[in-house]
Amino acid sequence: MLYIGVDLGTSAVKLLLMEGSGRIVKIASREYPLYFPHPGWSEQKPEDWWSNVLEGIKELTAECDKSQVAGISFGGQMHGLVILDENDNVIRPAILWNDGRTQKETDYLNNVIGKDKLVELTANIAFAGFTAPKILWVKENEPENFKKIAKIMLPKDFLAYKMSGTFCTDVSDASGMLLLDVKNRTWSKEMLDICGVSEAQMPKLFESYEVVGTLKPDVAAELGLSTNVKIVAGAGDNAAAAVGTGTVGDGRCNISLGTSGTVFISSRTFEKNDNPAIHLFDHADGTYHLMGCMLSAASCNKWWMEDIIGTKAFADEQKAITDDKLGNNHVYFLPYLMGERSPHNNPDARGAFIGMSMDSTRADMTQAVLEGVAFGLRDSVEVARKLGIKLERTKICGGGAKSPLWKKIIANVMNLKVDVIESEEGPGYGGAILAAVACGEYASVEEAASKLVKVIDTVEPDPAIAARYEEQYRKFVKMYPALKDIYSEI
Ligand code: XUL
Repeated sequence: MLYIGVDLGTSAVKLLLMEGSGRIVKIASREYPLYFPHPGWSEQKPEDWWSNVLEGIKELTAECDKSQVAGISFGGQMHGLVILDENDNVIRPAILWNDGRTQKETDYLNNVIGKDKLVELTANIAFAGFTAPKILWVKENEPENFKKIAKIMLPKDFLAYKMSGTFCTDVSDASGMLLLDVKNRTWSKEMLDICGVSEAQMPKLFESYEVVGTLKPDVAAELGLSTNVKIVAGAGDNAAAAVGTGTVGDGRCNISLGTSGTVFISSRTFEKNDNPAIHLFDHADGTYHLMGCMLSAASCNKWWMEDIIGTKAFADEQKAITDDKLGNNHVYFLPYLMGERSPHNNPDARGAFIGMSMDSTRADMTQAVLEGVAFGLRDSVEVARKLGIKLERTKICGGGAKSPLWKKIIANVMNLKVDVIESEEGPGYGGAILAAVACGEYASVEEAASKLVKVIDTVEPDPAIAARYEEQYRKFVKMYPALKDIYSEI
C-alpha cells in the first residue's frame, strides 16, 4: 500500500509518497505566501495551504496506482491559531508560530496567572508564539472576530478537517497551545476558562497514529482517490520529524534545521518540567518529549544568502570555510531575526553581527551565521544537560542538514555525534510513517521507526575543533544579556 505524508511548513508544503516498505516513491513541494503585516507579525492564509495541498497531492499521485493509497497523515507547523465561524469560514488569517505580537498576553499569563500555575496545568510556561496568548490577543484586539469563533484548530488540523470533516487535533501539536494537560493528554478546563473559550470550540483529541476519519466523497473525487483512504491525526512538525528520524524511545535527540531550529529529546516518562525555558510536550508515539525551539535557523542562512549577499549558490559560498577556520572565527552572529523563543522568550530580540574588523570577509560572516544558529541551539542543549539529560549523539533533519559544513559545525559546537539518515525529509516521512502505523502496516510507531529509519553516516566531533568552539560558546552566551536592554529600545 501507499501512504502520503504532508509536511505543512512555513515557506512551503512538502508532500511525500511512501511505500509500506518505507521506500520513498515521490516528493512534491509547493510554496505559498507568508505575510508580515507589521514588524514581528507573521500570518498565512489557511485557504492557501488547502489549495496547495490539493494540487500537491495530485502531482504526487499522478503516476501511481491511486487505488493503492491507503492513508494520509501530517506533520504541521505548530502553534498557529486557525479560527472558523459557525459556517466553517476562516475568520482571519492564521497567526503563526513565529509571530511576536502577544508580548502583553504572554506577560499576563506568566506574571498574573503565574508560571507555577501554568506549569501545574500544562507542564509549560507561556511563550509569545504559543496559541493561548494568541486567543487572548484576538479577544482583546479583535472582539468581533473573537465572538464569531466556533472552532479553534492548528494548521494541519485544518487539512484533516477539510479532508475528513472531523474536527480533530493530536496531542503532540495540542501541547503547544498551552491549553493541554500534557501529562494526562486532555484539555485543561482551567486553561480554557483563562482564555475565555469552551471545550465545544476545541477539537477532539487523538494520538498522532490514530485514524480520525476517511476522505470525504467530494475531496476523494477531486483527487481521484478512494473514499476508503484513512485520514490520520498526524503530529506537530517536530514530533513528526522525530518519528521520521527514528527519535523515539528514551533520551534520543533530533536537531531540525528548518525555518525554525529545534532540539528534540524523546522521553518515555513524564518528568516535571524544572526548567520551562524548553518545552515539555506529548510525543507522537504515545510518550513525551522535551524541545527547545529557536525561531530563525535555516532562515538566517537563507536571509543572509538570498536577501543580503544575493546568491542561491549556498554550497559555493561555504567552500572557503575550511576546517582550520572552524572555531577560529572572530565574527559572531546572534540569530534572533524574528525574536527568540528558547531559551530567552523575547520577541524583541533581533539579529546582530559582532566582532568584525577591516580584515573580516564575506566568508567569515557566512560562517558566523551558520555558527550563530549552532550556538543558539546549543543554548537548548545546555538546558537539557542541566536537567541531567546525557546526550552523546543526535539525528539531524531539515533543509540546513543538506550542508556537510553545517553538520560539522553542529557536531563540534554541541560536541555530539551527528547521525545522518537516508532522507532529511523529517516531518513528511514521519507523517507517512504515522499513516502506515494507523493503517496496520506496523504494530507501533516505535516498531515502524526502528525498521524504516536508516543511519547512513555519522559526523564525529573533532576534539581540537570542539575545544575551540567551547571557548567561543562561552563568549556567545555573554552577548544576548549585553544587548537585551537595547533590544527593547530598538
Ligand atoms: C516549535 C515551533 C516550530 C514550528 C515550525 O515549537 O514553533 O518548530 O513548528 O514549523
